[in-house]
Amino acid sequence: MQTYTEVKKDQIKLIKSSFYDEVNTKEKLVEFIRNAPILSMGEQCAKLEEEFAKKQGCRYSAFVSSGSAANLILIQAMLNLGYLRKGDKVAFSALTWATNVMPLIQLGLQPVPLDCELSNLNVSSGILKSALEKESDIKALFLTNVLGFSADIDVLSKFCADNNILLLEDNCESLGSKVAGKLLGNYGLASTFSTFVGHHLSTIEGGFVCTNDENLVEMLRLVRAHGWDRNLPEENKNKLRNENNIDYFYSRYTFYDLAYNTRPTEIQGFLGNIQVGFWDEIVAKRERNFFIFHEAVKSNDDLIHLEVGHMDTVSNFAMPIVFKDKTLFRKYKDKFESRNVEIRPVIAGNISRQPFFKKYVNRDSHLENADFIHENGLYFANNPELTDEEVNVLSGLISRK
Ligand SMILES: Cc1ncc(COP(=O)(O)O)c(C=O)c1O
Repeated sequence: MQTYTEVKKDQIKLIKSSFYDEVNTKEKLVEFIRNAPILSMGEQCAKLEEEFAKKQGCRYSAFVSSGSAANLILIQAMLNLGYLRKGDKVAFSALTWATNVMPLIQLGLQPVPLDCELSNLNVSSGILKSALEKESDIKALFLTNVLGFSADIDVLSKFCADNNILLLEDNCESLGSKVAGKLLGNYGLASTFSTFVGHHLSTIEGGFVCTNDENLVEMLRLVRAHGWDRNLPEENKNKLRNENNIDYFYSRYTFYDLAYNTRPTEIQGFLGNIQVGFWDEIVAKRERNFFIFHEAVKSNDDLIHLEVGHMDTVSNFAMPIVFKDKTLFRKYKDKFESRNVEIRPVIAGNISRQPFFKKYVNRDSHLENADFIHENGLYFANNPELTDEEVNVLSGLISRK
């Protein structure tokens, strides 16, 4: 059986390891598990939440079992607090992952897919403005920061604030990217992150919601674990208990609002605390690889050229290549496959073309650029463990011959 660490001879895979510095980290993990008195959510997770928030430059983070869980509890918490109401229209990036939009459908919101710019794969302020001309009652935007790139998020976030549109960022693919002096993930009311294998930081499975809003983080902690108050500060626990007339005997088994169980474990917390120490190194290596690939793309007129000049840091998740037409797409796809390079669609293409979306949402799914990327795009690996030789092979495949 092939594992992540046994790369088939010569194959350039999307994911090389379960987490960065795998051999040393596994040894530390074995030792930790041997000695840890408790492995369910505890001190390691709490420490990681503090460290992650500090690195991200926000006040609070809530650690959960996956990026998908982060998206789900965020939307549930928004409803519980009345920041959103059932039936509200929520715009989202059509070029995204399934579990970005699924919670909107599951929780009774109306999802409005938005197209992206071909030059950066992201939703821009111009795209949101055009959408509002057709549907003026959009209440929130759940933006995906695609593959470490961004459009004009500084302008977009101001436009949202001026027009009473709540901005949430799905930053599962863009940890460490910076625009106008600010890290992606700090532009809206809250943002989500994934720490699944292959993401910038890996805890095998895991995710975060980040925010500066105290009410929101408390609701997130309640929604993360059954709807009970156990992970709230003493003062807030007492407030809830008094308001609801709950005595001590019942207090630990009282459920205050709609919730799930999306808690992480101490194993993930321990891994995360090690991985956070590599944050800057990982971002720097991904950015370095990206600019080598980017130069190769710029030399080749068969490919659409990405624009990243407005970004301070491009913490690229994987390298997208969009071809000018279907014939070129097929030609290069064959080239990658015959060189044994693992490739895949750009995230999952236009997500509103997926069967689940069509089953539950009755809208025309045609979006010009997202469709173009769906049909003419692919991505290959960028990760901090690519060797110079692999980077050379990959850039050779996309350079003009
Ligand atoms: C944009 C985006 N959102 C959400 C997720 C889900 O994260 P997870 O796999 O940790 O559930 C992903 C996964 O890759 C993603 O790319």
